[in-house]
Amino acid sequence: MHPYLLSSARLPWPVDWAAQFGRAAPLAVEIGFGNGQFLLAMARERPYLNLIGLEISLPSLRKAERKLSRDGLPHARLVQGGAESFFWTLCAPQTVSELYINFPDPWHKAGHHHRRLINERFLHLIATRMPPGALLDIATDHIDYAQAITDCLQQSPYFHSRRSAPFVLEDTARVRTKYEQKALDDGRACHYFKWQRSATPAANAFPIPQEFPMPHVVMRSPLTLDDVARQFQPFYTATPTAEIKFIDLFRSTRHNNLLFETYIHEEPLSQRLGLSLNARRAGDWVLGLHEVGFPRPTAGLHQAVQTLADWLVSLHPDTEIVNSTLVDWLNPQE
Ligand SMILES: C[S@@+](CC[C@H](N)C(=O)[O-])C[C@H]1O[C@@H](n2cnc3c(N)ncnc32)[C@H](O)[C@@H]1O
Repeated sequence: MHPYLLSSARLPWPVDWAAQFGRAAPLAVEIGFGNGQFLLAMARERPYLNLIGLEISLPSLRKAERKLSRDGLPHARLVQGGAESFFWTLCAPQTVSELYINFPDPWHKAGHHHRRLINERFLHLIATRMPPGALLDIATDHIDYAQAITDCLQQSPYFHSRRSAPFVLEDTARVRTKYEQKALDDGRACHYFKWQRSATPAANAFPIPQEFPMPHVVMRSPLTLDDVARQFQPFYTATPTAEIKFIDLFRSTRHNNLLFETYIHEEPLSQRLGLSLNARRAGDWVLGLHEVGFPRPTAGLHQAVQTLADWLVSLHPDTEIVNSTLVDWLNPQE
């Protein structure tokens, strides 16, 4: 089967989309494609686009994958992931020619409005990834959200409307989505925003995060791993760019190994992973990343390993770091 479904965890930062599709073509993205009706229609009607459907729902991704495969549409791909990290990590500046957001979750309650996708920050982010003239189409049936989207778009220097008004209330040219049909059947008006990236440059406040070599620290200590395990208590630390929690500790019953369950949050991603401490025959320890999963060797990961190494050193005056691949995360460009 054609690999329609891409795992964002395994994609490089940023993705060379032309190489991924096997051809250079304008890149169009639909965020939150739901049952895929709109995405499938676009893939059928506009085969000259490289088309990406983005979703967080795995059942929706699986269903759309089956439909794309059935219809043989190799110029479409599906990516599981959130919109913000998709643009921030996977899209190079000025690469997205068309963006469609159909009926984004409205988050009705006032206390949940901060979860809405479309806000000033998100418009700034996508503006850094869209060249002048790129299309931005948004649709919603939620009056309050429509007003908020209008306000954000009108205040943004990076977009202007392709119509004489911020939105139109009818768009017969488009294939209806499931939520659109439901709104129309229930008698709710739909608001269609047809905007375009302006020529105003957008400062790149969302640089693609850097990846570093896998962190690896060799240490020497008179302590045993049991000594270490006895002294461990969950702890938390914050650096200027990351929040790090050492949540728990597990002892292997088969190997001379400890596994530190670790959570790292740094913009634009969160990772939950295992750091392992192996005691080698020669008497030294190796601290590094456990092989399970696909952790990203970010600055935050290096900071977590550095923090853990510092804690291990603090346990005994004769514990020392022999060598390491840790980067100077305060000055990561060097
Ligand atoms: C209200 S539904 C609309 C579905 C479809 N566009 C339609 O009009 O029928 C919103 C969809 O967006 C997806 N979604 C929500 N937040 C998302 C995000 N941050 N990134 C990508 N998709 C998201 C949800 O899983 C859901 O399928």
